[in-house]
Amino acid sequence: MRLLSNACEETTMLHQSLLLLHLLAAMAWMGGMFFAYFCLRPAAAEVLEPPRRLPLWVATFSRFLPFMAVAVLLLLGSGLAMLLPVGFRAAPPGWHAMFTLGLVMAAVFAYLYLLLLPRLRAFCDASAWPAAAQVLNRIRQLVALNLALGVLVVVAAVSAR
Ligand code: HEM
Repeated sequence: MRLLSNACEETTMLHQSLLLLHLLAAMAWMGGMFFAYFCLRPAAAEVLEPPRRLPLWVATFSRFLPFMAVAVLLLLGSGLAMLLPVGFRAAPPGWHAMFTLGLVMAAVFAYLYLLLLPRLRAFCDASAWPAAAQVLNRIRQLVALNLALGVLVVVAAVSAR
């Protein structure tokens, strides 16, 4: 009996640790995107001309996105580690929605990090400002998409309670 209750306590502690990791990663990702979209973007557009503004974005993304790559991996890993023991069949619809939207968000992030950032960097290095501005605009749209999906994911997560 005591052995069983110890095993239960350990499972609960593991689940709580995974949830903590999951929430910290989600906060970092969502908070970072919110700051970039609603604060840094308008401020940089107001204060800097394209030849200074676009390299600022390259420098910012080059620091921010590697942290976010870790956060995305932790988010997906901890999410799956909480979902799989319950199983897809028994999981509430909110968890299914979170899983599906989380994968879409991760794919958008990977496209942005692995394809668009190198393209933005190359255009900036070549001082091709109009082309760089186009790539930055695409990044802006994808960040807006991921922010909106992130809000839906949190709604799905809370509705599963
Ligand atoms: C593969 C992707 C994901 C999977 C498999 C997953 C799975 C889970 C599971 C199983 C829980 C429930 C834990 C519990 O109630 O004890 C949870 C909670 C949560 N997840 Fe996710 N998740 C994923 C992605 C995301 C993303 C992308 C976000 C936000 C951007 C997110 C935000 C949350 C939040 C806020 C909770 C807490 C809900 C609450 O305690 O009421 N998840 N996740």
